[in-house]
Amino acid sequence: MINFKERIVELIGDEVDSLDKMEIDALIETPPSYDMGDYAFPAFRLSKIFRKAPNLIAEELAQKFGKDENFERIESVGPYVNFFINRSKLVETVMEEIKEKGSRYGSSDMGKGKTVIVEYSSPNIAKPFHIGHIRTTVIGNSLYKIYKFLGFNTIGINHLGDYGTQFGMLISAYKKWGDREIIENDPINELLKLYVRFNREAEEHEELREEARYWFKELEEGNEEAVELWKWIREISLKEFSKVYEMLDISFDSYAGESFYSDKMPAIIEELRQKDLMEESEGAYLVNLEEYNMPPALIMKSDGSTLYTTRDIAAAFYRKKTYDFYKNIYVVGSQQILHFKQWMKVIEMMGYEWAKDCVHIPFGMVSLEDGTLSTRKGRVVFLEDVLNKAVERTLSIIEDRNPNLENKEEVAKQVGIGAVVFQELFNQRIKDYVFSWDRTLSFEGETGPYVQYTHARANSLLGKGEFNIEDKVDYALLNSEDEINIARLLYDFPQIVIDAMDKNEPYFITRQIVEVAKAFNKFYNSSPIIIEDNELKKARLMLTYGVKEVIKIGLSLLGIEAPNKM
Ligand code: ARG
Repeated sequence: MINFKERIVELIGDEVDSLDKMEIDALIETPPSYDMGDYAFPAFRLSKIFRKAPNLIAEELAQKFGKDENFERIESVGPYVNFFINRSKLVETVMEEIKEKGSRYGSSDMGKGKTVIVEYSSPNIAKPFHIGHIRTTVIGNSLYKIYKFLGFNTIGINHLGDYGTQFGMLISAYKKWGDREIIENDPINELLKLYVRFNREAEEHEELREEARYWFKELEEGNEEAVELWKWIREISLKEFSKVYEMLDISFDSYAGESFYSDKMPAIIEELRQKDLMEESEGAYLVNLEEYNMPPALIMKSDGSTLYTTRDIAAAFYRKKTYDFYKNIYVVGSQQILHFKQWMKVIEMMGYEWAKDCVHIPFGMVSLEDGTLSTRKGRVVFLEDVLNKAVERTLSIIEDRNPNLENKEEVAKQVGIGAVVFQELFNQRIKDYVFSWDRTLSFEGETGPYVQYTHARANSLLGKGEFNIEDKVDYALLNSEDEINIARLLYDFPQIVIDAMDKNEPYFITRQIVEVAKAFNKFYNSSPIIIEDNELKKARLMLTYGVKEVIKIGLSLLGIEAPNKM
């Protein structure tokens, strides 16, 4: 595909010796609207070098460039040189590229030889997999796919919360009030009940907390009864979680959770001791981070048991050794920003340069229209229920509008679940937001169903028009504003995927495919596609094919299916 921006960099580079290609590239802007050009180069930086007013420089540059086959016009406006891409070249180059690459359009091998770890989802065993976990799960899954698409060797890790004092609580609670059979029938709810009850009773009976600490200690030291109970709880919880993963079609390369690091912590603690980084405080050990304006990182409690932080440090070392990562990414809520800063700093203090390759990717909170969530108080909304409800509601919408659709159930799943995922990936990740059913399941506006519907519509047009990808197409026929606009959005897609990777923001992709869908629907409403004029029909069908492919690729990078009919 012709890289128009690169061509501009070359043109400018030929005239300006004092800036290198990277510098020029960074200076090039996208004007606020296409009628001001597709790209603009501001001449301010050059005015010192050439000792001339930027306006004058812009004017001279534009004149020097004169004609270039890739650009319709190159002209100066004030201090800017504006570049207008040659429309027919644009259409041809993007359509030929999509034709050639198909579902790999936008992929690349830029990540070749580099390993990226994406840690995501990571729910806590014996606790509900609730709506609060959806963001890490779907943002992480999307990032995983994006890195893979760009050629990185990508490892997805589910760092299960399967260790820690709460297991002490669960073990004591189970020993007091638990019933194996009842729990096996409805594991998470029953375990949650035990957990809630334990916390409630512990408010009055302080000694219960002591008991919980005792059992966690026993677990760490390999007490057979404790280990057996813990294993069982882990297994039945994981079975429940997999229902959600199956619905979302998400899998992991590794489920090495917190417990996996239990035997890997002593070495870390020893190293911290040897490097003289730990301080004792009331019997506990910590790393003082005052110098960095952070509270201390607690490494070991006074009874010798370890902490969440210790396990994260051990996990990072293990990952470095096992995968030799280029980047180690953690998709975890913004409430844990401090936690990640602290332990990453500890690794840096230990003298490991790769600490900088560990990246926390935070995201904002989700709340429900009718209030907040609290596991401790037992006020939760299960993710599984949300997904099921979305599928149900979608099915009833389909029954209403298109009762004869084949595979109704399957499509309802793809659309209902897709709608939920899409909404999660629609905004910048750091923003808090309120989950809304109405917005999620709307078939109008900027929603998953709207984009999926556009894909299905494009697909059905291709069928009706008997589209054949081998047909020769006269791209010059695609010259209306609407058509160019679509081509332009398709052309930008590969760069958008790279930007999404750079910023770890899947929503760039979400927004781009919404724009593609909107542009296509606008075109479709004003320009018939299945027409007598065979040449024009073939050209428009090719464009339709491009739209279909890009929407499908975009959705798949978000972890959403694209049904052919709906
Ligand atoms: N299990 C934790 C939670 O639900 C998230 C784990 C995040 N990952 C990590 N490496 N600390 O809050």
